[in-house]
Amino acid sequence: APIRLRDYAPPAWRVESIELSFELGIDTTEVTARLHLRGDASRPLRLDGEGLELLAIALDEQPLDAGAWRYADGVLEVDGVSDGSVLTTRVRTHPAANTALEGLYLSGSREAGFLLTQCEAEGFRHITFFPDRPDVLTRYTVTLQADRARFPVLLAGGNPDGAGDLPDGRHWARFVDPHPKPCYLFALVAGRLEKIERDYLTGEGRTVKLVIWSEANVIDSCHYAMDALERCMRWDEQAYGRHYDLDVFHVVATHDFNMGAMENKGLNIFNAKYLLADPDTTTDDEYKAVEAVVAHEYFHNWSGNRVTCRDWFQLSLKEGLTVFREQQFSADMNSTALKRIEDVALLRRAQFPEDAGPLAHPVRPAEYREINNFYTATVYEKGSELVRMLAGKLGPEGFRRGMDRYFERNDGRAATIEDFLAALGDANDLDLMPYLAWYGQAGTPRLRARGHFDAGARRYTLTLSQHAQAHADLPEKPPLPIPVKLALFDRDGRMLALRMDGQTVGHEAVVVLDRDEQTFAFDEIERSPVPSLLRGFSAPVILECDYAPADLALLLTHDPDGFNRWEAGQQLAALAFDDCRHGGQIALQAWCNALAQLFADPTLDPALLADLLTPPGEVELAEREQEVDPAQIHALRQQLQKQLAETIGAFALAQRLAALEVAGPLQLDAVAKAQRRLKRRVLELLALIDAPTAQARADAQYRRAQGMTDRLAALSVLVRSDAASAADALADFRRRHADNPLALDKWFAVQAQLPGERALERVRSLESDPAFTLKNPNRARALLGTFASGNPSGFHRADGAGYQLLAERLVALDALNPQIAARLATAFNGWQRLEPVRRDAARRVLSALAEKPELSRNLAEIVAGVLKS
Ligand code: ARG
Ligand code: ZN
Repeated sequence: APIRLRDYAPPAWRVESIELSFELGIDTTEVTARLHLRGDASRPLRLDGEGLELLAIALDEQPLDAGAWRYADGVLEVDGVSDGSVLTTRVRTHPAANTALEGLYLSGSREAGFLLTQCEAEGFRHITFFPDRPDVLTRYTVTLQADRARFPVLLAGGNPDGAGDLPDGRHWARFVDPHPKPCYLFALVAGRLEKIERDYLTGEGRTVKLVIWSEANVIDSCHYAMDALERCMRWDEQAYGRHYDLDVFHVVATHDFNMGAMENKGLNIFNAKYLLADPDTTTDDEYKAVEAVVAHEYFHNWSGNRVTCRDWFQLSLKEGLTVFREQQFSADMNSTALKRIEDVALLRRAQFPEDAGPLAHPVRPAEYREINNFYTATVYEKGSELVRMLAGKLGPEGFRRGMDRYFERNDGRAATIEDFLAALGDANDLDLMPYLAWYGQAGTPRLRARGHFDAGARRYTLTLSQHAQAHADLPEKPPLPIPVKLALFDRDGRMLALRMDGQTVGHEAVVVLDRDEQTFAFDEIERSPVPSLLRGFSAPVILECDYAPADLALLLTHDPDGFNRWEAGQQLAALAFDDCRHGGQIALQAWCNALAQLFADPTLDPALLADLLTPPGEVELAEREQEVDPAQIHALRQQLQKQLAETIGAFALAQRLAALEVAGPLQLDAVAKAQRRLKRRVLELLALIDAPTAQARADAQYRRAQGMTDRLAALSVLVRSDAASAADALADFRRRHADNPLALDKWFAVQAQLPGERALERVRSLESDPAFTLKNPNRARALLGTFASGNPSGFHRADGAGYQLLAERLVALDALNPQIAARLATAFNGWQRLEPVRRDAARRVLSALAEKPELSRNLAEIVAGVLKS
C-alpha cells in the first residue's frame, strides 16, 4: 500500500544521540550502534532495518532474550524499552555484494576500490537499525576501524575527534557531529584516497579545512571543484548570510553513484561526473555543471541540513529551494540570461512531459510507494520555479528577509512547505498560503492571453485566463496565483512606458492572475502594441497567445533582455515547425530572416546567438502534438534547421566558422566558451546544407581540437554524417580516452544519439564493447539512458525493437540496481500519445514487463504508473 502525506504522525521514539562503530571490510563490515532513546514506554519501539544480519542485541547493557524482540519485513520491534534506555545492536553487512549502491557499498575493484555510503532517502536502514525518517534528529559519534594498509583514509561526517593505531595493522578514527541530523545525512568513506586541501576563512571568522578526495589518478582534476567550492561558500555568505558550521568540509568523488551528488553533513559525496574537470576531457557545459552541483550540495548545508524535511513529501522544501539558490549563484557567476535559457529549456524538456503524462505528480506528492522514484524534475525543477515565483513576488529584499526568518525559525528542525510559506509571508506581512495550491496539484497550467487595442480610448486591454488539466489527483483545481511579468513594445521595437490605473509603473510590470480570468488595462497607448508576456518565464505555465509571426520576430530582434528574445524565438520556431509540416511560409520566413539578420550582428553575444539558432528540441516539439510520430518530428525539425541554414547561407556559415577558429592553447574564459558554443552550432547548421565542407571542417577540428568541447562537437557531426572518417575518429577517441571513464561515457553517448533507424544496431554493438557494463550507473545511463530518453527518433522505432531492447535491459538492471532501472524506465513516459503503430508496440512491451513477478518495488511502481491511462 502507498504511503500517504495525510497519514503523517510524529515519531513515537526519538534518538537523542548515537554511538556508531564500524569494523570495516570489503566483504563484511560489522556495525555496532548504541541508540540513546527518548519516548513513551507505552508505545512499541520499531526500528527500520533492511536485510541486516543481527549478531547481538542488548537493552541497557543487558543482552536481550529472543522473546523480547522480533525482526521481520524490515522492522525490528523491541519490548521493554523505557525513556532514556540505551539499545545496542551489532549487525553484519556485505559491502562488495551491494550492487544497488544504497547503504554501504564498494566503489571500484575489490583490490583498489574504496568503501562509501549513500543513505538518502532510506539507505541508513541497510546499515543499522534505526528510525529511518527525516524527522528524527540525532547527535552522531562515529568510530571507524579498519586495516591501515587497505584503508589508510577513514572519513565520516562531523569534526575529527581523534585517531590512532590498533593491534594487527589496524587503525581507528572518530568523528563527532555537533549538529543533530536525520540519518539520511550520515556518511562514511574508507579506502586509499588522495586529497587536495585549502583553508577557508568564513565571514564569521571560523577557519574551515576544505578537503577534496579522489582516487590518485584523478586528484589533479579536482582543482576546479575546489575553486567552485570557495566561490559558492563566499556567495552564500553574501547573498543569504549563511556561513559554514564545522571545522572541516570533506568532498569525495566516486565513479559509482546513483545520483549526481549527496549533501551528507560535512562529507559531500559526488558522482565523479560532477566533480572532476580537466581541460582535455571536460566540455564547457560540464564545467558549468560541476560548478552548479558543487554549489547545490554546499547550499544544502542550510537548505536541507540545518533546516531539514519533516517527511519525504516535503522533499521539494530542500530540493526546489536548493535548485533555486544554485540557479541564482550560477547566474551571478556566469550570465543571467543564458542560465535562465538553460533552466527553462530543461524544465520544458524534462518536467513538462512528466507533468503531462501518467507519472505526473504535485511538487508535494500526496502518496508514493518508493520514495526514490520521486527525485524528479517536478520536485526539483518545478519546485525551484515555485520558489522563484515567491522570490519575484517579495522582491530581493523581501525575499532575503523571508529567508532569514525561515532559517532562524526552523534551524535544527524538520520543517514543512507550510513552514516555508509562513516564514516568507510573516517576514513581509503577507499571506502566501494561496501559493500552497501550486504545491498540491499536478499538471502544467495553461495561461491564455488575448489583447485588444481601443484606438479611441488609447487603451490596450489584456485578458488573461488560466486552465488546468483535470488530473486524477485533484479533479477540481482552484485557480492559482500566476505572476505574469510583461512589457509592451511599439512597432519599432521600443518598450513603452506602462500606465495602469492612473499610475506609471515603468517599462515592465508584474500582474498576478489569481482568478480564472482577469483583464488588465494599459492607458495612453497610441498604436496597437506587441505584448511580451511571461518575461523571464515568470511562472511555470504554457502560454497560449495568438501571436502573429511578425510580432514574435519583432521581439526576437528587439527585446533588450536576452532571455525574452530567446523565448520569442522559441515560440516563433514552433510556428515555423508547423509551417514545415503544412507547406506554410509566413512563420518559417519570419524566423529564418530574423535569425539571419541577427547572425550578421557582430555585437550579439556568440553564446546567446548559438541558443537563438537552436529551435525547441524533439521532446519539446512532441509535447505540442495530439499524436506523436517521433520520426516525422525529427525530419521536420531537420527541415526547419536546413531552411535556417540556407537563409543564412553556406558561405556566411563557413566564413563565421573560420572566424571562430582560434589558434593556441585552450582558454576557459567566458568569451572562449561562448565562441565554442557558437562554433558548434554553426558547424551543425553547415552540415545540413554543405556536407562535404562541414565534414572537412569537422575532420580538421577533431584533429586540432585543444579541448573536449571542440573534439566532441566535431565527433558528433562526423558520427551523424556518413563520412568515412567517422569510424577513424571514433576509434581514435576510444583509444585516446580508454582509461578515462567520464570521457568514454561521452563516446558511448554520442553514438547512442545517432538519429533514426541506425541507432538500435549501434547500441547493440556498443553493448559488446568490453568497457560496457550495467553495473556502473554512469555507463548504463550513457548508452541506454541516452538512447531511450535522449534520442526519440532512434528509440521510438515503428517496429518496437527499441522498446523491446530497453525492457530486456531493465529486467537485467533491476536485479542489480533497482533505482537505476526505475529511472531508465521513465523513458516510456508519454507512450499513450504515440501514433497507433508505436503505441501498440509500446503497450505490448510494457504489459509484458509489468507481468514479470520479480520486479523491484522501484521498477514496478514506474511500470505500473506509466501504463495507467
Ligand atoms: N539530495 C541529493 C541532491 O539532490 C540527491 C540524492 C538522492 N538520492 C536518491 N537515492 N534518491 O543533492
Ligand atoms: Zn539536492
